[in-house]
Amino acid sequence: MQAAVITHYHQAEPLMTSMPIPDVQPTDVLVKIMAASINPIDTKTMAGGLKLLLHYPMPLVLGSDFADEIVAVGNQVTQFKIGDAVYGRPRKQRIGTFAEYLAVNVADIALKPTNLSYQAAAAIPLVGLTSYQALHDLMQLRPGQKVLIQGGSGGIGTIAIQLAKSLGAQVATTTSLKNAALVNSLGADQIIDYHTENFATALSDYDAVFDTRGGTTLEQAFQIVKPGGHIVSISGLPNGRFAKAAGLPLWKQSLFKLAAHRLTRLERQTHVTYHFLFMHPSGSELAILTKLIEQNKGRPIIDRVFDFKELNQALAYSKTGHARGKIIIKIGATN
Ligand SMILES: NC(=O)c1ccc[n+]([C@@H]2O[C@H](COP(=O)([O-])OP(=O)(O)OC[C@H]3O[C@@H](n4cnc5c(N)ncnc54)[C@H](OP(=O)(O)O)[C@@H]3O)[C@@H](O)[C@H]2O)c1
Repeated sequence: MQAAVITHYHQAEPLMTSMPIPDVQPTDVLVKIMAASINPIDTKTMAGGLKLLLHYPMPLVLGSDFADEIVAVGNQVTQFKIGDAVYGRPRKQRIGTFAEYLAVNVADIALKPTNLSYQAAAAIPLVGLTSYQALHDLMQLRPGQKVLIQGGSGGIGTIAIQLAKSLGAQVATTTSLKNAALVNSLGADQIIDYHTENFATALSDYDAVFDTRGGTTLEQAFQIVKPGGHIVSISGLPNGRFAKAAGLPLWKQSLFKLAAHRLTRLERQTHVTYHFLFMHPSGSELAILTKLIEQNKGRPIIDRVFDFKELNQALAYSKTGHARGKIIIKIGATN
């Protein structure tokens, strides 16, 4: 099969390489990948930016989510069968969706929404699960609560806005003026053009902030959240609490505790809880998203579709940081 491979960190571009089709473990299915999506984690992984959290053996096939058809099942698999259309985010040590085939644990997949094409479905797993884990699992958003979603027009933002609305929340979001109509169509109640307005002075008394930016944007979020509220960041610094819960070695726990000391001080001063989220694969949570999508409570927003052979152009486009929704890689699917 053809796969997009890096052989070392800091490699400029993955190389299309011929590889054997992966072996299927007893609790795996083998899938023929129809479409995959680009996520910023692809280029961050290539650059070695996540080495403290995830260190991969090389060579590494890139790609973190997919939609596909099952072509073989392991001998302990009962919940899926050959021919099922599924989608998923493989566990972190078994990524590799920029390839024609993937062996994936059944706990990491769910049936594809029947109302989505393979290309549209491939837009969902990583960003959908991340948003669900932030808004539902960590913030436990309730109807009427107010949440700010940073970067409403991105891969995360476009799904997170819809999910927050389906949980009954009032949603403010930051984006550029050119994307205001898009985020409005997804249900955003208040739109802040981050080029001309500072959210920290425009908003107050929020129950939660979903931070996709990190840095000073994350620190400013403490100004708008009520005591008892939550900030969940997927781009800020991991803190000691995260490192402990993730079972990282003591030296990494100390390192993250030290690095995030300003956030810990802000937590103490404001009585707001800071969570760093490193999303985890979950077929059962993905099945919940399948239901929401089939009930028309959410839809993927697709910016551009690239052919598999154009993967490097797709990665370069993602690196601009201004995609509008998701970037899709067409691998086996015609739609
Ligand atoms: N920790 C985790 O588990 C996890 C999971 C998923 C993603 N992430 C991280 O989350 C971040 C967002 O991911 P993504 O998939 O949404 O990325 P993305 O699709 O590349 O985000 C692009 C969007 O960001 C917007 N944007 C750029 N600068 C902005 C700013 N200063 N304020 C508000 N919006 C801004 C752009 O809008 P304009 O064109 O209008 O500027 C664009 O629509 C990435 O850093 C990614 O690595 C982490």
